Amino acid sequence: MAQNGPQLTSKNIDEVLKSMTLEEKVQLLVGDGNSGFVGSGAMLGHQSRLVEGAAGQTVGFQKYGIPATVLTDGPAGVHINATREGTSKTYYATGFPVGTCLASTWNPQLVYKVGQAIGNETLEYGCDVVLGPGLNIQRNPLGGRNFEYYSEDPCVTGIIGTAMVNGIQSEGVGTSPKHFAVNSQEGDRTRVDERVSQRALREIYLRGFERVVRQAQPWTVMASYNRVNGVYSQDNHDLLTTVLRDEWGFKGIVMTDWIGKRRDLPTESEVHAGDDLLMPGYPQQAQDIVAAVKNGTLDVKDVDRNARNMLEYIVKTPSFRHYKASDAPDLKAHAAITRQSSAEGMVLLKNDNNTLPIRNLKTVALFGVNSYDFLSGGLGSGAVNVPYVVDMVQGLKNIGVKTTASLTNIYEKYVPYAKAKLKADKNPEMWFLDQGQPKLDEIEISDRLISNELPHADAAIITIARQAGEGMDRGASDFNLTDKERDMINRVSSQFHAAGKPVIVIINSGASIETASWRSLADAILVAWQPGEEGGNSVADVLTGKVCPSGHLTATWPVSIGDDPSTRNFPQQPDYYNLTEKFDNGNLKGVNYSNHDEGIYVGYRYYDTFKKNVAYPFGYGLSYTTFEFSKLTAKKSGDNIIVTVSVKNTGKVSGKQVAQIYVAAPKGTIEKPAKELKAFAKTALLKPGQSETLKMTIPVRDLASFDESHSQWIAEAGRYAFLVGDNVEDIKESVRLDIPEYTEKVNNVLAPKTKLDLLHQ
Ligand code: BGC
Repeated sequence: MAQNGPQLTSKNIDEVLKSMTLEEKVQLLVGDGNSGFVGSGAMLGHQSRLVEGAAGQTVGFQKYGIPATVLTDGPAGVHINATREGTSKTYYATGFPVGTCLASTWNPQLVYKVGQAIGNETLEYGCDVVLGPGLNIQRNPLGGRNFEYYSEDPCVTGIIGTAMVNGIQSEGVGTSPKHFAVNSQEGDRTRVDERVSQRALREIYLRGFERVVRQAQPWTVMASYNRVNGVYSQDNHDLLTTVLRDEWGFKGIVMTDWIGKRRDLPTESEVHAGDDLLMPGYPQQAQDIVAAVKNGTLDVKDVDRNARNMLEYIVKTPSFRHYKASDAPDLKAHAAITRQSSAEGMVLLKNDNNTLPIRNLKTVALFGVNSYDFLSGGLGSGAVNVPYVVDMVQGLKNIGVKTTASLTNIYEKYVPYAKAKLKADKNPEMWFLDQGQPKLDEIEISDRLISNELPHADAAIITIARQAGEGMDRGASDFNLTDKERDMINRVSSQFHAAGKPVIVIINSGASIETASWRSLADAILVAWQPGEEGGNSVADVLTGKVCPSGHLTATWPVSIGDDPSTRNFPQQPDYYNLTEKFDNGNLKGVNYSNHDEGIYVGYRYYDTFKKNVAYPFGYGLSYTTFEFSKLTAKKSGDNIIVTVSVKNTGKVSGKQVAQIYVAAPKGTIEKPAKELKAFAKTALLKPGQSETLKMTIPVRDLASFDESHSQWIAEAGRYAFLVGDNVEDIKESVRLDIPEYTEKVNNVLAPKTKLDLLHQ
C-alpha cells in the first residue's frame, strides 16, 4: 500500500502538487479511458468503470484523497447505460428536447429549468460533468450535429447556452461547452481544416462561446476534433490559451474531444497549448508527456499548470464532496419539464383558415412511419437511453383522438420489421446507428389505401422525419423530400382536400428540410423538432391549443439547399444507411478542408443582406393569437444600451411572444450585415388584452465588428437603428440612437494561412 500524501482540500492544492511525482501529475492530465479506450489509469491498475456507459472518467489517487471524476454526455440528457449486469434496476435518463428545439423557445428561464433537471440527473447518477451544451454555429442546414446546437446566430447561442450552463451548474455539477471551435461539419471531422477569416471567427464562431465563458464560467470546455486555420483545436495555443484564458478569463479545464493518441501531433504540444485533460485517455499519452519533460521538449511548468487546473476542477466536484448519488432522480417531474419545454420550442410554420387548434377532431388517419416511431433525439453521443418515447398515436390517444385502425395496424406491424432489417443490414462501422433511433424507410402509400381511410377520418396527419448524427453530415437528398414522401403528401392531400378534410404535417427533425415545393398541399405545418421522450404529448398540447405555439426558428429555412452560400464548400455526403465507403476512426475519409468563404454572411446575415428569398426566415413562428409591439425605446446607460418595448396580446387566446431586437449600423468604413440580432426577451403568458413591457440590456461592445487590420473590436460612431421584429423580415417598429465610437484591442491570432475568396456586398 502506497504511503499517504497530504489529503487534497480546496486550500492545499499547492502542497498536494508539491508532493506528487511527475508521473502522478501526468496521470491527472490523461483520462482513465472508457469501454473503448484503455485509459492512463490502466498503468495504475484502475480499470473499474464508475458509471456504466458514461463517456469517460479522470484518474483518481487514493493516496492524496483525489477521487476519479465521471464525465457523461450530453446536450439532451444524461447518456449512460440504462441497464447493468447483475441487477434488474434500470438507469434510464430523461430525454429532453434537442438543442435546436430548446433554443427555439427563445426562453432562457425555461432553458435554465431544463438545465437544472439535466444537472440533477447527472448528480443523482453519480457523474460530475455533462459534456454539453453544444455551442457550434449551424453553418449549413446539412450539418450532421445541427440538432445538438442552438442556432445560426451567436446571440441566440450565447444567451441560450448561458442559461443552460447556469442551470446545470446550479446543481453542483459541471458542464463542457463544445466543440471549441468551428466544428462546422461532421465530414472528416477529426482532420478537416476549417478555414475562417479572423472576422467571422470572432463575430460568428467564437462569440457564443465567449458570452457563455464570460457570463457562466463553465467548469470545463471541450476542444473540437477539427483544425482551425491549419492548427488542431486541441493543439491551438492561440485558441485555448490566448483567447479562451487570457482574453475571456476562462478559469476551468480544457479537455480534448474523444480521440486516441494522434499520430500527427506530439502529445506534449497539446499539453503546452492548454489542454488540461486528454480524453478519453491512452497510456501512450502519459508516457509521451513524461518523456518530453525528461528530454526537455516540454517545460514541467506546463504540466504543473495543467495539473493545478485539474485539482481546482476536482475540488468542485460531487465526487470530491463524497456526494452519495441516489441513482433515482425524479424522472416523472423531469418528464413534465421536457413536455413543457418541447411544446414551447415547437414552431408553427403554417396555419391556413385556423386549421389549428383542432376542433371536433375524433379520428385521424395518421401517415408517415415516424408517426409510429417518433424520433425523440438525434444519433450518437448526444442520444439518451430514454425510458420511453411517446409517439403520435399515444399522444393523440391521450387527448381522446383515435387513429384509423387499419392504417395504424399496417404501420405498427411495419415498424418492428423495418427496425430489425435495418439492424441486420447496417454497415458495422456506423456505430452511431446503435445510439438513438435511426430513421426507417417510408412505406409506399397508394391511392387505394388512402381512399379506404378517408371515410373514417376527420383529418390526415402526416409526419415527415429526418435523422442525423455524429460523424456524418446530411446530403442534399436528405434535405429534400424523397419520392415516397412526396407521393404520400400529394396523394393524401388530393383526396382529403377533395373531401373537405384538412391535412396537417408534423416535421420531426433536428434541422431544416425543403418545404417550399409542397407546403401549399398542407393546411397546417408544425415543426416538432426532436422533442425528447414526451414528443407525442407535446405535439398534442400544441394541436389542442393547451399550449399556444410560441416557438420561433433559430435558423433560416432556405428554399433550396443550393441557396445557402456555404453549401458549395460543404461536404455533400451520401446516404449513410447505404454507405460502402471506408471509414477511418469513425469518420468518412477525404474531406480535407472547408473554406468559410461566406465569411460573416452565415444564415440570415446572408439572406437578409443580399435580399434572397427564403422558405421561412430566421425568427419566424406563428401563434394562435396576435400581438402588437409598441413604445420601443433605446437609451444609453454607461456602457450599455437599455431597450424597452411593450407587447400586447391583441388576439383571442392567451399566448407568449418574443421580442427580437435587431440592430442596423450606420454606414461607416466597415462592411456590416443589413441587421443583426442583439437581444431578445419573451413575455409571460399574456391573456387577451394584457400587455407586458420587456426590458433588455445590450452592451455597446456587442455592437462592435471585428476589424482585422487593427485586431480590434470596433463600433463606429453614428446613428444606430434598434428594431423590434416578429422575425428578421418582419420588423414592427424602430428607434434610432447616437452611439460614440467604441474600440477594444485584442490579440492578432488565428489568421487563416490560405487566401479565402470572401463574399462581400
Ligand atoms: C463527441 C463528443 C462527445 C464525446 C464523448 C465524441 O465523439 O464528438 O461530443 O462528448 O464523443 O462521448
